[in-house]
Amino acid sequence: MTDFVEGLKIRKVRKRDLLELSRVYAQIYRKHDVGERWSAPAAQKMLGWYLKSTPDLAYLAEYKGKIVGGFFVVLKPYWDGNHLIEGEIFVHPGYQKRGIGSMLMERVLARSIKKHNAIVWEPFVFSWDYPLKWYRSLGFKKAGNRGLISIVGNTRKVLKGLEVADNDRNLASP
Ligand SMILES: CC(C)(COP(=O)(O)OP(=O)(O)OC[C@H]1O[C@@H](n2cnc3c(N)ncnc32)[C@H](O)[C@@H]1OP(=O)(O)O)[C@@H](O)C(=O)NCCC(=O)NCCS
Repeated sequence: MTDFVEGLKIRKVRKRDLLELSRVYAQIYRKHDVGERWSAPAAQKMLGWYLKSTPDLAYLAEYKGKIVGGFFVVLKPYWDGNHLIEGEIFVHPGYQKRGIGSMLMERVLARSIKKHNAIVWEPFVFSWDYPLKWYRSLGFKKAGNRGLISIVGNTRKVLKGLEVADNDRNLASP
């Protein structure tokens, strides 16, 4: 374990790390079938978006020079202070359960508090067993006490419905 920790480095993400990180990300979601089909280019776009929005809170784990995990999150000013929202934390399947996820979380949370006084991180997480168990062991609990639920609308379908309603009301399109 000491050898392992010695070979491990947690550091900030640079733009040139995104390709390797996105390969790890896509590999994880090929293994854990959560109904999402991530290709490396799609993952690269998403991780690039995170890096652009909140670059100083994007960290990766490197074992003997090979990227094995990452943590990206977005900082949003809210009525009661800064919240961390969204987020992707992931560790290569061959390196899970060795403390890397916890180390990434510790580094990013410490920095978010020190630099931005972040007060909470409220991610959406899969409800399947083990990540939830892991978050719980770190002190996260199920939200929902603010009357908020997650909803989704297909943009084209919603727009179509609105246009039909406009026509019914005889409103001119803009
Ligand atoms: C969740 C995740 C980031 C944790 O990273 P990690 O480096 O494995 O975490 P740690 O080593 O710090 O913590 C280990 C704990 O996580 C849980 N865990 C991690 N990998 C697991 C696995 N493959 N199966 C079951 N439990 C697992 C266990 O609770 C474990 O505790 P234990 O060793 O006492 O059983 C990582 O497993 C992962 O990338 N999972 C796939 C992506 C994912 O689910 N991300 C979260 C999005 S909701």
